[in-house]
Amino acid sequence: METKSLSELREKYKSCTRCSELLNSRIQVVFGEGNSNAKVLFLGEAPGLSEAKQGVPFCGASGKVLTELLSSVGLSREEVFITNTLLCRPENNRNPEKEEVENCRERLDKVIEVMQPAVIVTIGNFATERILGKKGITSLRGKVFPTFIAGREVKVVPVIHPANYLYNGRNPEIFAQMKRDFEMIADVIDAKKKQKSLGEF
Ligand code: URA
Repeated sequence: METKSLSELREKYKSCTRCSELLNSRIQVVFGEGNSNAKVLFLGEAPGLSEAKQGVPFCGASGKVLTELLSSVGLSREEVFITNTLLCRPENNRNPEKEEVENCRERLDKVIEVMQPAVIVTIGNFATERILGKKGITSLRGKVFPTFIAGREVKVVPVIHPANYLYNGRNPEIFAQMKRDFEMIADVIDAKKKQKSLGEF
């Protein structure tokens, strides 16, 4: 059962009209999926075509890789919450525009305020820049950034976007590195659980 305010946000942003260009080709808003009481938030870039059709984030090729990485460290999609920097698909999967990221800022801030995650995993450059204000995923990945968000400390962990691995012909070295980063994420989560700061997963 989704917490009242998260379902209110889902309802509110279902009909968002802030980005006129995204609106032109929009199939539907992809608000997010998972456990609405989760203390771990995964943040991607923007929905692709499969996601826009199904209304579910990371349900296409990148999503398969993400699910595999999660299960490799004993996590399931159902115990975390997954959303994106943009809720609407940019046509032909182009990069999000700065203005679109800004238009979607209030929504993500509100999701974070409601969920109060202890850990945010930023997937790829756009999500990482949105949360940390830093660029350069290759040097930022696999590190933990304790960050104050809405007055609370959140452990932010940037990871390589699965699309990067796919564009690189499923390079096994990239996958091995991503797996190590997910092992580190699992350790960060375990440490938080031990502090009893994570209510529900
Ligand atoms: N890539 C993303 O960044 N998000 C999705 O939901 C799917 C692919």
